[in-house]
Amino acid sequence: MIKQKEFAKRRLQLMDMVGEGAVTIIRAASEKIRNNDAHYPYRQDSDFLYLSGFQEPEAMMVLLSGENEGQSILFCRERDRYYELWNGPMAGTRGALEDYGFDQAWPVSEMKRRLPKLLHDRDRIYYDLGKDSEFDQLLIGWMNEFRSKTRKKFHTPDEITALDNNLHELRLFKSRTEITAMKKAARVAASAHRRAMRICKPGLTEADIHAELLHTFTSNQCESAYVPIVGGGANACILHYIRNRDPLNDGDLLLIDAGAEYDGYASDITRTFPVNGKYTGAQKELYEVVLAAQLAAIEAVRPGTPWEHVHEVAVRVATEGMIELGILKSSLDEALEDEHFKEFYVHNTGHWLGLDVHDVGEYEIDGHSRVLEAGMVLTVEPGIYIPPSATSVAEDWRGVGIRIEDDVAVTRDGPDVLTSDVCKTINEVEALMAE
Ligand code: GLY
Ligand code: MN
Ligand code: MN
Repeated sequence: MIKQKEFAKRRLQLMDMVGEGAVTIIRAASEKIRNNDAHYPYRQDSDFLYLSGFQEPEAMMVLLSGENEGQSILFCRERDRYYELWNGPMAGTRGALEDYGFDQAWPVSEMKRRLPKLLHDRDRIYYDLGKDSEFDQLLIGWMNEFRSKTRKKFHTPDEITALDNNLHELRLFKSRTEITAMKKAARVAASAHRRAMRICKPGLTEADIHAELLHTFTSNQCESAYVPIVGGGANACILHYIRNRDPLNDGDLLLIDAGAEYDGYASDITRTFPVNGKYTGAQKELYEVVLAAQLAAIEAVRPGTPWEHVHEVAVRVATEGMIELGILKSSLDEALEDEHFKEFYVHNTGHWLGLDVHDVGEYEIDGHSRVLEAGMVLTVEPGIYIPPSATSVAEDWRGVGIRIEDDVAVTRDGPDVLTSDVCKTINEVEALMAE
């Protein structure tokens, strides 16, 4: 578990980063209705979680950067015995001070009265517009009011800056405790994938495998970081396939993209393996191409490498492989230059990973791909998808989709594959499935 001290340190870092005179406002996620009066499981906003560990809705954090330490303030719900009877314990303003280390805490019902006063004498507001239109309007309304009424008397903020260049930069670089949480999320997800490989056989359905994944996550104190993709046969070619209900057929491949979330941190793993435990000759040929692309791309995950280069390495190896197999018919130069590979290699090779599965952080700086640095964590996930309609490709490969995805931390000693507990070579996968 991440400790109060680390959250307080993150708040101080952020206040320091945005500088004296700034006020940063971050709102808790709201509860989402699934249907009628049933809710989706609550998931806190990742920025809010990063800065507090606070898990309740109807809360707002205000960080006042100061000359020295600054002040962190939480608006939250007051404890309510009736509410607690139905929904369990609440922190309340006292808990916000004692258990979460805020300097001040106020009932959220007082927010509209207190917040405008906190904005007086501040130069700049840091806040992500667009997540909550009602609050956006309130904030903009206050700023307009300040401008008309208090122009002469107070210095008041007249700009709102997004959190990308400050908070999201902090989140991009993982601390040791964050890496520990991510390793646990990775271990649990790896164990779920191994279990899926062990039990998979023709006659089961995608739903049976989906259920097994959730079993492993839940019994290891994890959530699903996103809805798992369990795609048998041609369903693997549908990138966001989540229906997960079809029968698993002898001779088909099964693509599983499933990640666990532990203590808010995501893992993100994809494996593609034969339903019956043995890859066919054609499946092996294409699988080896994707695996070679992935291994080469992982090797490139080192401090100093431009992020884009990881993708370029994977694309080059995958394209060479597709040409060798006759799936692409042009020369390598042509296939790369004219992007013929995009017919079957349709997505990027990875993304940042952290509290969000597609985590925050810029990929480009001043129009150039940013360079990898120690502490970043990214996925490496090349994929080749030959849709059933691809009549230009030999029949054996039509309806075959293969992706291999691992989570990799950038370290000074090279790539650290957090998800290495689940095998991916053909021999290892077949051996595990034969157990
Ligand atoms: N599971 C989402 C992704 O691989 O990006
Ligand atoms: Mn991914
Ligand atoms: Mn994935």
